[in-house]
Amino acid sequence: MQKLKQKLDDSIKIGALQKITLSGCFDGSVKKATYTVKTKKDTPYVFEEKFTKDGKAYHAYLPYEGAAEHILSSSGGYKQTDVSCADFSAVVLRSKKGAVHIKYLQAKQNNVKQTDDKNYILSPDKKYDFLTALKIQDVNGRVHDKRQSKFRQINRFLQIVSDITPSLPEDDITVWDLCCGKSYLSFAVYYYFRYVLDREIKIVCVDRKEDVIKECGDIAKSIGFDGMEFICGDIFKCLPNTSPDLVLSLHACDTATDMVLSEAIKRGAKVILSSPCCQHELSTQIKCDGLNFVLKEPLLKQKLSSIFTDALRCKLLHAGGYRVTVLEFIDPDETPKNLMIRAEKTYVPKNIRKSEYEEYNAICKTLNVEPAMKKLLDVYLSDLL
Ligand SMILES: C[S@@+](CC[C@H](N)C(=O)[O-])C[C@H]1O[C@@H](n2cnc3c(N)ncnc32)[C@H](O)[C@@H]1O
Repeated sequence: MQKLKQKLDDSIKIGALQKITLSGCFDGSVKKATYTVKTKKDTPYVFEEKFTKDGKAYHAYLPYEGAAEHILSSSGGYKQTDVSCADFSAVVLRSKKGAVHIKYLQAKQNNVKQTDDKNYILSPDKKYDFLTALKIQDVNGRVHDKRQSKFRQINRFLQIVSDITPSLPEDDITVWDLCCGKSYLSFAVYYYFRYVLDREIKIVCVDRKEDVIKECGDIAKSIGFDGMEFICGDIFKCLPNTSPDLVLSLHACDTATDMVLSEAIKRGAKVILSSPCCQHELSTQIKCDGLNFVLKEPLLKQKLSSIFTDALRCKLLHAGGYRVTVLEFIDPDETPKNLMIRAEKTYVPKNIRKSEYEEYNAICKTLNVEPAMKKLLDVYLSDLL
């Protein structure tokens, strides 16, 4: 246990603790206890939630420093402890007689193929008015043959949204979908929160295509999705006046993604889900002698620039106080544009944010690049750090 406590203490120091769950209480009084990191006015604390056998939930707020000690000593009363941190995870199994077995797990891979179709939130056998209105299902609820992959994409996206739901506020939720296009995923998100989870939700969708925005507005009206608002405009010029909890940006073109991510950070969005698209910016700038063996091939240069663009975006999100994961969002067989950046606002200690930002700047210097997101966040981050 001493090694686990040390690892947990180290994770807490770098703000990497995600969740600890205790289950199988030996005296039967508690069904499950969970510990998650939250922040109030940039000060972190650990939120303890105990669900008792009689269906009640008890909450406590633990000091961030020293949380590992407290949680691991409580874990003595439970058969299983699941520790999930950004840098490692572990399962502790304990017998009633006190024998302890600890298994350290590999970091979870976020591959779309690992998801299970059976866990899909929308059933292919049920009719959904919004899917009929979006012409994904026919009037009898059958998914059109040509829309099968869109249906899978929506379901996969809803699984990702359901995973991040604990990071969102428990009451009303405000969502931005920037560069929304036909807003398929926003319609699905609205349906999920409003009708599956029975939560209040407002979604503001923005796109510069007038006809598409009008069509989406008409569809929302026809199916009674009255918490959805559609704004026609350029996201560089007109952003909603709300403070978003969740920001979506799916396949926004080139540097529009940088605008979305920067604005989401500045406004303190709790979660950002962004799947970047057609990044051209860095491939016109990048110069680095050590990489010439790759950069001399135009196709490889394009691919490497895309990867650098996303990796640099992730670094700035981390410096901005987010826990970041890159996952596969759509089956790569369906489209190569299948990466998604998932960023959840968390506690990242100031020294880690600062060093992340310094490292970011050093990498930009080495690659001779000045990404749009750097320009958009320079003042904000240098003030902050
Ligand atoms: C590839 S589509 C993606 C649409 C949708 N998010 C999806 O995943 O199905 C990109 C959309 O971004 C919009 N767009 C690109 N740049 C924009 C900007 N600066 N302001 C507003 N909309 C923009 C385009 O009009 C287009 O509808």
